[in-house]
Amino acid sequence: MAALVKPESNFDPNVNIDISLSPLVNSVKPSKTIAIIDQAAALALAGVPVIRLSTGESDFDTPAVVAEAGINAIREGYTRYTPNAGSTELRKAICHKLKEENGIGYTPDQIVVCNGAKESLVQAVLAVCSPGDEVIIPSPFYVSYPEMARLADATPVILPTQITNNFLLDPKLLESKITERSRLLIVCSPSNPTGSVYPKELLQEIAQTVAKHPRLLVLSDESYEHIIYAPATHTSFASLPGMWDRTLTVNGFSKAFAMTGWRLGYLAGPKHFVTACGKLHSQFTSGASSIAQKAGVSALGLGYAGGKIVSTMVKAFRERRDFLVKSFREINGVKLFEPQGAFYLFVDLSSYYGREAEGYGKIDNSEELCQYILDKAQVALVPGSAFGDDSCIRISYAESLPTLQAAVERIKKVLIHLNTAALV
Ligand SMILES: Cc1ncc(COP(=O)(O)O)c(C=O)c1O
Repeated sequence: MAALVKPESNFDPNVNIDISLSPLVNSVKPSKTIAIIDQAAALALAGVPVIRLSTGESDFDTPAVVAEAGINAIREGYTRYTPNAGSTELRKAICHKLKEENGIGYTPDQIVVCNGAKESLVQAVLAVCSPGDEVIIPSPFYVSYPEMARLADATPVILPTQITNNFLLDPKLLESKITERSRLLIVCSPSNPTGSVYPKELLQEIAQTVAKHPRLLVLSDESYEHIIYAPATHTSFASLPGMWDRTLTVNGFSKAFAMTGWRLGYLAGPKHFVTACGKLHSQFTSGASSIAQKAGVSALGLGYAGGKIVSTMVKAFRERRDFLVKSFREINGVKLFEPQGAFYLFVDLSSYYGREAEGYGKIDNSEELCQYILDKAQVALVPGSAFGDDSCIRISYAESLPTLQAAVERIKKVLIHLNTAALV
């Protein structure tokens, strides 16, 4: 019998209850992106004309035909539990998509449909990592990856990338950091927060390194696959020679199809691993929303890479990206790399650290700079520290061009104050 560990108690005399929490919860950090989003929402509610460029969701509505499929699902009584792994209809449609668009072959029993790509990611991490394993995460990273590793009692191993190298992982650095405890490498392309897209040749080099280590698996987060700007192209990691057997591919509907609220994503991989993820899924949540799944079938029916509807949205994102890149290049002391995908600009504003503006106080890091911009310009951005890079801030351009134009004007004004301030 396992030794009983006496939990630490935290007695609240007001309610006469032990309010202690599990060590698991205590090991996980709350999301910093959510903190600033909440602060901006509270300001908006109080009537402050705040411009929110902090959220990770498209400003477009779910395509009408897709929304209609969800409404029809309700009307037609498609409102009961689906199979745990998702409806056969949706899983078949996903297999077709993965074959046609990504060149990776799966059967429906190698797919688990989840409540968003986020759930797929955490299922994958929990299914394959043992306590003490290492999860290799290139930084800047999607905020949840390190916390997901911690949830599995694994250790996140953060590998920095450089803005001068388009925030892409150096395969030599990867090779030097792999140990016998390395279990999972997380690749995110197109990337949140940097907008980097991994070229096929670089992924091939990474795959060659991975192939030397039988314990090392790859979790490929392809959530932004369709939001990509030519000439950049998307390559699925599992399509590379020898990688299918060790790759779990995660994708979803939130980003490309503007379906964040429908909570629909999926993972695909070798049956052994996917069955394990399905087992966890069955105990956590079971099958995703039946209504969202019908909408998902409709979304995949829009055509190759989402067809005309998605390409129209991508065209708008591209115009906004071009505007922001041009505008920020004109600002003193800004370093940036032109994103090739997703809808974020990750700019290095660290040259403004160490300065003080009009009695506001010294600004030393990305969090303080974002707070300053929120307070003085009423524009909400996300500090790079949330993504593992304190020299940068993330600007989401999932907003209309006029809104972005107004935001840039406001940001410029408050940065000029900092620029003219002496270094403290
Ligand atoms: C890189 C990345 N992966 C996964 C997700 C989760 O998306 P979903 O809404 O499908 O859970 C996000 C959301 O911001 C993301 O940026």
